Amino acid sequence: MAVNVSELKTKFVEIFGSEGTPKAYFAPGRVNLIGEHTDYNGGHVFPCALTIGTYGIIRPREDRKLRLFSVNFSNMGVVESSLDDLIPAESAGWTNYPKGIMWTFEKRGYHLEKGMDILFYGDIPSGSGLSSSASLEVLTGLMLRDTFGFHISMVDLALIGQYSENNFNGMNCGIMDQFASAMGKKDCAIFLDTSNLNYEYAPVKLPEARIIITNSNVKHSLVSSAYNDRRNESEAALKALQTVVTIKTLGDLTEEQFEQYKDAIKDPICQKRAKHAVYENQRTIHAVEALKTNDIETFGKLINASHVSLRDDYETSCTETDILAELAWNIPGVLGSRITGGGFGGCTVSIVKKDSVDLFIQTIGKAYRDKTGIQAEFYVVDIGDGAHALNI
Ligand code: GLA
Repeated sequence: MAVNVSELKTKFVEIFGSEGTPKAYFAPGRVNLIGEHTDYNGGHVFPCALTIGTYGIIRPREDRKLRLFSVNFSNMGVVESSLDDLIPAESAGWTNYPKGIMWTFEKRGYHLEKGMDILFYGDIPSGSGLSSSASLEVLTGLMLRDTFGFHISMVDLALIGQYSENNFNGMNCGIMDQFASAMGKKDCAIFLDTSNLNYEYAPVKLPEARIIITNSNVKHSLVSSAYNDRRNESEAALKALQTVVTIKTLGDLTEEQFEQYKDAIKDPICQKRAKHAVYENQRTIHAVEALKTNDIETFGKLINASHVSLRDDYETSCTETDILAELAWNIPGVLGSRITGGGFGGCTVSIVKKDSVDLFIQTIGKAYRDKTGIQAEFYVVDIGDGAHALNI
């Protein structure tokens, strides 16, 4: 559904009144093409911003009140709190995300002098793993920056988002999602080295193909604790390797070096996790090289290999996303398909030849329903720009 920003403004005025000059902003969700669970292991990632995301309309107040309203959670009504009360609370629901950003601003010395009225609306399907929370964080950061005139770079807004998610919301995520939402560029993926935040934009020129996101419509419970477990296992593997080789992160190793030193990791589970992190990082580097030389076949094969590794070694896939990927691999015209994002449900990303898009959607839609009883959803997506202001 195309979002009509002036309708959001009308809604804002209905809820918060017509005085002053509200301003509008947008921050996108992301899909990661390859480089999964490498961002907290000092490796590379290759995400791109989507054209779906979160919209916000903001107007500062004269007091210190915060009045937040989400069109998506309209049943919660206007959630009222204060800048003097920035503490995470389960009952605060979705507002913990914007409040976490305000808390991080204050912590970093960006003093928020006035309260705010803000209306939010997101068009990222909830629970899909396409980074609705990162987009909400980056959006809030951008709105605060512009409203109060702070000089903060977009990369720092991404870091503020990650800090807030780690320390206010308790999810120990890496930097990929917030970076993609803040720094995305139309028709490009971002080749980001998470060990130093160096990045380059790589045009995704797929004249004969489209990117399709397939939503499994399942989200298994305990996602954030399972995610945090993977981080701990990767760290344990790194510590074991550091007893035999001088490295800062798993991303420092080539496949050959990993094979040479892997026996230092005694726990077989931790060894598998490290294997994924090392090989996935190398796959990402090769995939970007392949894309740059228009070798889409190789790009697709690396995407498939990424899924197998996430399924068997990192174990962040699940039955439903395995079914989606395997169905895709058997359809002519599919160059590559894999689970994308944090895992344990969510979406797959597939590169599909234009002529096969309809076949892909029909075949997988039916076979997935037959096997699981669940209706998958398909989004043929475009790559959009990072967070920005909108005219209203
Ligand atoms: C989630 C996290 C990211 C990244 C991915 C897995 O999306 O927020 O930081 O770790 O999982 O690649």
